[in-house]
Amino acid sequence: MSRRPRIIRSKDGHVLVERFSLFRRFEHTVVASSFIVLLLTGFPQKFADGAFSHWLIGALGGLENTRLIHRIAGVTFVFQSALHALLILWGAVTGRMRMVLMPGPQDVRDLLANMSHFVGRRRHPPKMPVFDYRQKFEYMGMVLGGLLMVVSGLVLMYPVQVGQWVPGEIVLALRAAHSFEAVLAFVVLLIWHVYGSILSPDVFPLDTSIFTGYMSAEHLREHHALEYERLFGDAPLEAVEAEPQPTPAEVSSPARPGPADERHG
Ligand code: HEM
Repeated sequence: MSRRPRIIRSKDGHVLVERFSLFRRFEHTVVASSFIVLLLTGFPQKFADGAFSHWLIGALGGLENTRLIHRIAGVTFVFQSALHALLILWGAVTGRMRMVLMPGPQDVRDLLANMSHFVGRRRHPPKMPVFDYRQKFEYMGMVLGGLLMVVSGLVLMYPVQVGQWVPGEIVLALRAAHSFEAVLAFVVLLIWHVYGSILSPDVFPLDTSIFTGYMSAEHLREHHALEYERLFGDAPLEAVEAEPQPTPAEVSSPARPGPADERHG
């Protein structure tokens, strides 16, 4: 069984609901920073003739250094992805994790209902679960795109060895896939993720939940009503019971172990 998220009251009286465990926040930091390094060291290789690429490669200490940094960040990404996959598998097998990021038929219904709402054919938007269809779509895109980058990246690291087992055309195709998927990942991230977590009027200037681990119960009620109802039934915000805000050390204490990990899966 997954544990109930922690509910606290901030100093200014807002009820906050735990959304991401310390481990999930750590994972996000590793993925985000390795991804940025991979972009900064991959694109200058792809667009090698550009003036900015010349400058960046020079600033990074030359092409060999740039390639080395890319490989180190790539291997970090590989380990992080493998750990994530193993923990999801463990959570699924033991039943200790709610598979809240796994898309299902209800997400298609939510999408259609939301579209009807947008075109004025439905008065209210549908009630969303803890992660809505857009967030699941983004997560699955990351998983599938990440898998392609990991496989093709490892092949690019060992092209001669891989070429002994598979036709050379496959190695070339994977090189092209790595190169194009990098552009797709960058564009999707820029448009989708930056909009969703920074520019959207619902969260502007920044959705801080991935850094603090908490989301306001008000935001939860408005955007993830099914999760609010799961936790509080139809209780109004004023009636929600919450602990006083813990100190920052308590919030990030490793003594409270992960399975708020229930929230990713
Ligand atoms: C996930 C994000 C990643 C992005 C955005 C990215 C981006 C890129 C780009 C744009 C290139 C240049 C391709 C070209 O020449 O057209 C490249 C090359 C390369 N990438 Fe990645 N990459 C990623 C992940 C990885 C991973 C996970 C690995 C290794 C496990 C890896 C290993 C390599 C290697 C070996 C090359 C060939 C250049 C060299 O020999 O150093 N990449 N990458």
